[in-house]
Amino acid sequence: STQHITIAIDGFSSCGKSTLAKALAKKMNYTFIDSGAMYRCVALYAIQNGCALGAHKINLTCVVNSLPQIHIQFGEADELGNRPVLLNGEDVSHAIRQLEVANIVSEVAAIREVREFLVEQQQELGKNGGVVMDGRDIGTVVFPHAELKLFITAKPEIRAQRRFLELQAKGEINSLGEILENLKHRDRIDSTRAISPLTQAKDALVVDNSEMSETEQLEYVMNLVKNHTRA
Ligand code: CDP
Ligand code: CDP
Repeated sequence: STQHITIAIDGFSSCGKSTLAKALAKKMNYTFIDSGAMYRCVALYAIQNGCALGAHKINLTCVVNSLPQIHIQFGEADELGNRPVLLNGEDVSHAIRQLEVANIVSEVAAIREVREFLVEQQQELGKNGGVVMDGRDIGTVVFPHAELKLFITAKPEIRAQRRFLELQAKGEINSLGEILENLKHRDRIDSTRAISPLTQAKDALVVDNSEMSETEQLEYVMNLVKNHTRA
């Protein structure tokens, strides 16, 4: 059936995955789930709970012990498709985007217990299909049977520039160099970790959006969706 397929979007940091997933979900009347926001919530909680030790270092036991206290929810999408992220009932949509969180999130996401905790929730959220989920392991681990898998790529300098502008618009002042460093750091940790590293699923379609605007990438992928669901 052409109804209620599962769309998995993976790729490196700041490639435009969430922007695409959000727009696709809105267009198709599907549910958008930003799995990275869930890892960011665990990282934020870890910071608040004193588990962060600075300079990409975390207290592993402290993070694992925090998990039972972490309750993550997504609110209703606004007209742009954005969904507020709630951590224990509090709106942390803005707080989880800070570089301070980004600086430890890959270390937090490499912990087996953290992944088990979140993957189970992600699978539950997507169990009825009609979902567009973006992350690092969606097509490989969370939904290995997704009908459509996309792997998004873009040049690192373009990604850093995009993230720089995004943070600037949110009033977060970080240097371009600092952001590029963070992207490279996370890309390395995310693709080399032992559990569920970021890899391209064999059946994923690769989209390089370095030269595409948000509208162009949506059009491009909507065509893929049409071809895909025609059968
Ligand atoms: O938006 P951005 O690309 O900066 O990152 P994100 O999607 O918010 O994800 C933040 C971090 O969470 C990533 O760098 C990964 O370490 C982790 N993550 C993961 O391990 N698996 C996922 N499915 C999603 C995110
Ligand atoms: O989810 P991911 O980290 O892959 O990236 P994103 O948060 O969707 O996009 C990062 C930034 O790039 C956002 O500010 C988008 O508006 C922007 N972007 C862009 O300028 N052109 C694109 N083709 C895609 C995203």
